[in-house]
Amino acid sequence: MTDEPKTRGQLIRELLQLRRRLAQFETPEHPSHLALEKLRQEHEKLKVVFEESIRVMALTMEMRDPFTAGHQRRVANLACAIAKQMDFSHGQAGVIRLAGEVHDIGKIHVPAEYLTKPGHLTTEELNIVRTHPEVGYRVLKMIAFPWPIAEIVHQHHERMDGSGYPLGLAGEEIVLGARIVAVADVVEAMASHRPYRPAVGIGQALEEVSQNKGILYDPEVVNACLKVFTDEHFDFHSAVIAKLPHTR
Ligand SMILES: [Fe+2]
Repeated sequence: MTDEPKTRGQLIRELLQLRRRLAQFETPEHPSHLALEKLRQEHEKLKVVFEESIRVMALTMEMRDPFTAGHQRRVANLACAIAKQMDFSHGQAGVIRLAGEVHDIGKIHVPAEYLTKPGHLTTEELNIVRTHPEVGYRVLKMIAFPWPIAEIVHQHHERMDGSGYPLGLAGEEIVLGARIVAVADVVEAMASHRPYRPAVGIGQALEEVSQNKGILYDPEVVNACLKVFTDEHFDFHSAVIAKLPHTR
C-alpha cells in the first residue's frame, strides 16, 4: 500500500462527506437528537411537577391559615431577591423562593388559636409552635426533591451563634438557603402586622438584622438584604409595618 499524498480534490470530497455526516447528527430528526430532546422535556416536566407539589402544599396551608400563607409568599419574594443579590443563578434563586413558600408548612400541626392568639403564649404552647420546622422537614422529606428544600425549612429558625432551634446549629453548619430565609423571615415578620403584637417599620426591621449581623444572622445575607431595599427599592407591596423582631 502506497502512502501517496491525497490530492486537493480528494481532500475536499472527504471534508464534504464528513460535513454531511455531521449535519445528519445535528438534524432534529436524528435519533440521538430526538432522545436528548425527549430527556430534556421529561426533565422539564418533572421540575414542573416538583414545583407544583410545593405550590399545592402552600395552597393547602392557605385554605387553613391565610395569614401564614401570605407571610410565606412575602418571605419567598424577599428571600429570592436576596439570593439574586448574592449572585445566585436564576435556578438557585428559584429554589430559595420555593423553600420560602413553604417554610412554615409545619404550622399545619399547630392549633390555629396558638398562631393568632393575642399576647404571649404559655411555655407549653410555645414549645408546640416551635415543632413546626421539624414537622415541615418530615413532611417535605417524603418527596425526593432534587433541591435541599426540606433542609432549608428545617433550619430556618437556626441562628449563627447557635441560639436557634430545633438543632442548635451554628455558622456554616446552617445551610445557606436557611440563612437567607431566616433573614427574610425576620424582616417580613417585623414589616407585617401580627395578632400578638403591634406594628413597626421596615427601617426598624433592617436595624434589627444589622445590629445582629454575625451574631444571629449571616453578615453576607444581611448586607445583601440591605442592598435589596436600598438599591432595588424592594417592597412587600401591601406591607403593613410591625413591631418586635420575634417570629414564632
Ligand atoms: Fe417559622
